[in-house]
Amino acid sequence: MCGIMGYVGPQQAATVLLDGLRRLEYRGYDSAGIAVANGAIAVLKAEGKIDRLQAVVDAVQPPGTIGIGHTRWATHGAPSDANAHPHTDASGKFVVVHNGIIENHQSLRDELVESGNVFTSETDTEILAHLVADAYDGDLVAAVRSVVDVAEGAYALVVMTEHEPRKIVAVRRVSPMVVGLGDGETFIASDIPAVLHRTKRFLIVEDGEMVVVDDSGVRITTIDGDPVERDVFVVDWDAGRAEKGGYEHFMLKEIYEQPAVVTETLTGRLDQDGSVWLADVTFDNDYARSLQSVWFTACGTAYHAGLVGAALFRKLLRIPTYVEYAHEMRYNEPLVGSESLTIAVSQSGETADTLAAARQARSQGSRMLALTNVVGSTLARDADDVLYTRAGPEISVASTKAYIAMLVAEYLIALRIGRVRGDVDKDLAAEIALGLNQLPGLLEEVLAREDAAIAAAEQIVDASDVYYLGRGLDYAVAMEGSLKLKEVSYLHSEAMPAGELKHGTLALITEGVPIIAVATQRALYDKTMSAVSEVKARGAHVIAVAYDDDVSIDREAHTVLRIPTAPDLIGPIVAAVPLQLVAYHVARMRGHDIDQPRNLAKSVTVE
Ligand code: AGP
Repeated sequence: MCGIMGYVGPQQAATVLLDGLRRLEYRGYDSAGIAVANGAIAVLKAEGKIDRLQAVVDAVQPPGTIGIGHTRWATHGAPSDANAHPHTDASGKFVVVHNGIIENHQSLRDELVESGNVFTSETDTEILAHLVADAYDGDLVAAVRSVVDVAEGAYALVVMTEHEPRKIVAVRRVSPMVVGLGDGETFIASDIPAVLHRTKRFLIVEDGEMVVVDDSGVRITTIDGDPVERDVFVVDWDAGRAEKGGYEHFMLKEIYEQPAVVTETLTGRLDQDGSVWLADVTFDNDYARSLQSVWFTACGTAYHAGLVGAALFRKLLRIPTYVEYAHEMRYNEPLVGSESLTIAVSQSGETADTLAAARQARSQGSRMLALTNVVGSTLARDADDVLYTRAGPEISVASTKAYIAMLVAEYLIALRIGRVRGDVDKDLAAEIALGLNQLPGLLEEVLAREDAAIAAAEQIVDASDVYYLGRGLDYAVAMEGSLKLKEVSYLHSEAMPAGELKHGTLALITEGVPIIAVATQRALYDKTMSAVSEVKARGAHVIAVAYDDDVSIDREAHTVLRIPTAPDLIGPIVAAVPLQLVAYHVARMRGHDIDQPRNLAKSVTVE
């Protein structure tokens, strides 16, 4: 996620801003920039690490005690000097930094181009600079307010102008923002750690609020201008904990970000009737109709997302759909060709095996769609079509929010293809859209039940093996639950389709062995419960993940992790979250380095 800074006070702004941006590095970024006003506004920016920006700033040494700054994590347009923030209008007198996504950026850009504005970047942010300049009539607050009225989406925005040289105006629409209160100075930041060493006193800006900072201090209003009273929040966290938003580990923070991530993944892409807009998925309807097969290829958690995708595609689209580990696909002489769509799934977009498998599929004539979290990654650049998951940077090695975003994105692709081919009719499309739109709320409910996951974790923390069972979509989710447990808790675990158990693994089930059974697929419920009965008969300890309205599960399982009732197609996404929480808490109880598990790397860039 991008980092935002603003400063008004007596110190040299460039120094304060760069220092703050360094402290936001943990959020992940690919370029950075600052703007400092001293009468005229100087804008300095650079792709890459903050040291590059520091060199540019050292060379120029822009004077001034008011300014804004930004670390960018690309969402529209690849990482580059030109796309780095701040962005200005043509006159250079209005300057903007921004975090989040402007949903209707394309139509706004088209209108601005038509009225003669020239763009110097590919970002959605630059639109805001032009819009504020166009709207300015001697009152920056009014101009920003009018822009927020037309710019749809979830974002945070900070604006400055030469015309009102000692003022910063900021707006929060969903994306986070705080105000740090210093002694005769005020800071704006997207996150507390940016200025925690300078002040412990903060105002938390809420969604739909505007902040005006000048030499007299800070004023918070609603976007419409009604005054807001806000208590000062005194932070007693240390810097490490503050980076994690008060959570003990990035993994837990990222688990808790999932409702917001789902909203980001869906923003501007899905209508209530199930119509889908995917800007960088460019294949036409004839292509979608002509498809004969779909191949998912990926590794690790991304492969498990592929398993869900494949089950979904087979169910909804009735197209033969295959999932191959990328490292296997490379050497398996896959029968992929010009009638196939290959969907390469990778959070980083840099996994060597996934890149190689995707390239091989393309060399055999397949169109390749990159499903990735990182804008401008190698996979995205190699692809014919790209769907960005918009999960924001994921810092914990164990993937959680990127996985959930991948699943949501797969539903969007399935809808896009299914509507064209006629496999997904209007009613089903609307039903899936409703389920997806309800997902953030469902995930919030699951997160509110973390205590149940802690209790389940206590039951397995001393086990030597844990088995995960599920059928259909539940099996795919069980695979991911099992991997998560292995990665962070170092406990041996295996997942299998519930029906496979009695073909061998049942020999390992003895008194007290923990079984985690996922039971969201109503059509397969009885089948899953038969397997549960088999393991119970051998003394296993059964923990089930089941819906709130499942009245028989208490008879079957020793412990039930309840999830809010959801349609069968959406339930598996919801069920993934308690499994993540169980893995996290087992690892915590075992005292492990959760964010950096032994022997593992975030991105595996070698074969
Ligand atoms: C997930 O928790 C792991 N860190 C790992 O399995 C990961 O999903 C895999 O290495 C693939 O990475 P990618 O999504 O960046 O390609």
